[in-house]
Amino acid sequence: MDLRIKSFDEYKEKYEQSVKDPKGFWDEIAQKFTWQKPYDEVLDWNFTDPDVKWFINGKLNITENILDANLEKRGNKLALIWEPNDPRERFVRWTYRELYEKVNQFANALKNQGIQKGDVVAIYMPMIPELTVAVLACVRIGAIHSVVFAGFSAHALADRINDAKAKMVITADGQNRGHKQIPLKRVVNEAVQNCDSIETVIVYDRVGWSPEMKEGRDIWWHDAIEGMGSDCEPEQMDSEDILFILYTSGSTGKPKGVVHTIGGYMVYAAYSFQNVFQYEESDIYWCTADVGWITGHSYIIYGPLLSGATTMMFEGVPTYPDPGRFWQICDKHGVNQFYTAPTAIRALMAHGEDHVISYSLDSLKVLGTVGEPINEEAWRWYYIHVGKEKCPIVDTWWQTETGGIMISGLGEHTPQKPAHAGYPLPGIQPVLLDQDGNEITENGKEGLLCMKYPWPSILRTTYGDHERCKLTYFSTFKDHYFTGDGAKRDENGMYRIIGRVDDVINVSGHRFGTAEIEEAINSNDKVVESAVVGYPHEVKGQGIYAYVVCDNIPEDKESARGEIVETVVEEIGKIAKPEKIQFVSALPKTRSGKIMRRILRKIAEGEPDKLGDTSTLLDPDVVEEIVEGAL
Ligand code: WTA
Repeated sequence: MDLRIKSFDEYKEKYEQSVKDPKGFWDEIAQKFTWQKPYDEVLDWNFTDPDVKWFINGKLNITENILDANLEKRGNKLALIWEPNDPRERFVRWTYRELYEKVNQFANALKNQGIQKGDVVAIYMPMIPELTVAVLACVRIGAIHSVVFAGFSAHALADRINDAKAKMVITADGQNRGHKQIPLKRVVNEAVQNCDSIETVIVYDRVGWSPEMKEGRDIWWHDAIEGMGSDCEPEQMDSEDILFILYTSGSTGKPKGVVHTIGGYMVYAAYSFQNVFQYEESDIYWCTADVGWITGHSYIIYGPLLSGATTMMFEGVPTYPDPGRFWQICDKHGVNQFYTAPTAIRALMAHGEDHVISYSLDSLKVLGTVGEPINEEAWRWYYIHVGKEKCPIVDTWWQTETGGIMISGLGEHTPQKPAHAGYPLPGIQPVLLDQDGNEITENGKEGLLCMKYPWPSILRTTYGDHERCKLTYFSTFKDHYFTGDGAKRDENGMYRIIGRVDDVINVSGHRFGTAEIEEAINSNDKVVESAVVGYPHEVKGQGIYAYVVCDNIPEDKESARGEIVETVVEEIGKIAKPEKIQFVSALPKTRSGKIMRRILRKIAEGEPDKLGDTSTLLDPDVVEEIVEGAL
């Protein structure tokens, strides 16, 4: 199934077609997939409720498109290469046939443990090939997966399990990350104490530990698959049945479960994968993301495997055993397409060129980035030292909610410009709006990035709370999906993403809501209230800056900071640690009691001379104190 556009002219032609006749455009692509029963209608939608349905009444199982379809055509082709944390350990290579057998066997095990169509299964696993098996086995039997990044705390895991009422957790005894080993099962044990819905915990033996196993609830993976056959009938699913839930942070409250459904997500994951990376049949493709995030879902598992690609998974970290690891892996496996995050590039840049120039990297054809804006310096370093000035860089802009890449170059076919994501993919209709919702049609202008037409992998709802979905994405501007990002379109119509315009901060490509971190900080007994903002960070893109009010300003600030950090680690996880904590006697508030974040942001950004209008403040003296004590 070759879905690729092969020139800039063809892109322009297809783009035009996709806008003139979106249904016809997607129909032609969707027909290329395996459906158990064809759909009656391509699309029905409104952005008011919102209610979006693609490939209506189509029946299918995605794993038939991944496993059965490729078994016939590519049974002996490598589906998955897995590179372990420790380069001395043997890597794993599975053909499509082996993947078929392993997924089916585990699907049978899930059924045997009582999992049925429509049940939610939480997956809290390291980056090992069995994670892919677990995901696809759920899909085979029509269960909904909810993958939770294995760096989240027990508390955060429990919240996600409870929100979705998951019946099972699949995990491992432990996880290897660089020099460290992390006890995953211990975290799960702590989490599920507070989760009534959990009936079973399946544990993969990754590090050879003996964690506490609860009789009647916990079972080892190897015991669960014992005696299970390697054929399992794919469950017949509706195009609009839920495929997965993935939690992500927004401006307010707790993380929400973004819901993706089967048919549309399948079509768009494969279409965008093939076009952006220009994958060719014998290529080896590597995305360094974690399956705990949307990038890992769409571009380690679904997009590549639906396309019959060889996808690589890496267990470790970019700097272990040394900062040349990524490049060593590229040479070792002959990687052709490489997809990573700007934060990883900046971190490696800081270690110097020596770690990269000793590798040939001559297999590389396309380089990709995702997760946050890439600064020009990092772009050039990537282009020159990794791509040896011969590989195009596809700067892919998208979101958990969009399911797939929305604005990006298509391999070498489209023009590239540092720090610009570029043009929308066919079928994607971005617009820039001003604060009042008027469309900015001129080029060279900045505005709020919205979409005025649905695409197949748009989120359908937020799990258990449709109103929240409507409020967050479809209420700011009538008849538009609002992304939460600001963007600028240059003279040639190429988009440059500026960053979030809401209270979401992006730390090393990971999204956090300021409210969520504040809630965690406030759960510390000593804290009265707090306000969190992002500030520019050389490696992470943004760092977390917290202004904290305690009963009294602590005398031993260092230990008070340590305690607050500890609370955040317990509530959310290490990835949400505040970089800077400033103790203040009060927060700047308006007379109506609203925290003036704009002021706090400017102070955190080191621009206290640009505070703007402070006349509505209740107590202007507070600002002076905060500026003086800024970190
Ligand atoms: C940001 C990750 C600039 C953006 C796939 C978006 C980017 C948020 C880019 C979504 C990019 C993602 N250039 N900014 N190429 N890609 N972003 O849900 O602010 O984890 O709204 O999805 O990351 O983050 P999420």
